[in-house]
Amino acid sequence: MAATSLMVSLLFAAAAVCGAGGASTALDEVCGVLGGYYVTPEACASALCHDPASPCRAARDKAAVAALAARLAAANATAARDSVAAAAASAAEPAGLRACLQLYTGAAAALEWAAGSAAAGRYPGAREVLQAAQYVPAGCDGVAAGAAVPAENGGFDAMATVAHAVLASLSKGY
Ligand SMILES: *[C@@H]1O[C@H](CO)[C@@H](O)[C@H](O)[C@H]1NC(C)=O
Repeated sequence: MAATSLMVSLLFAAAAVCGAGGASTALDEVCGVLGGYYVTPEACASALCHDPASPCRAARDKAAVAALAARLAAANATAARDSVAAAAASAAEPAGLRACLQLYTGAAAALEWAAGSAAAGRYPGAREVLQAAQYVPAGCDGVAAGAAVPAENGGFDAMATVAHAVLASLSKGY
């Protein structure tokens, strides 16, 4: 009994300290529970706040964080697609990079749709698009067949993993 009330007081004290900090944002809240997807809070915040222009800390609730994650994933895929297109255009043996480009072209279009869907609060479908997008970087490395895939491929890997985890964690039970 005494131990229990001590625990309770400690919990309240901890809650008071956290509350007093005032630093907890919707981003911290969402990024803090992605361990089941092997995404650390740091990796999550780093992906969503990577661009200094990203309004990551201003996201007012979980839905806004999900919309931001999907939007950033779409923009990131589009940038990666453009890099792969440029690499394919200047490659001596472009067949592998062209196959990679097809993966990104499809993913970028699907992610644009997913970003609109997530912004409207509709996660089913968007979540699956993000899930599939996670396989694009490894797929590109495979189909490129030894050609040098641009570094943006690795960047998109990080972004897709985080964005999928954010949407999946929010849409549980839908
Ligand atoms: C995509 O996102 C990742 C993770 O934040 C970042 O490292 C990378 O630079 C981004 N790529 C582009 C082209 O913006």
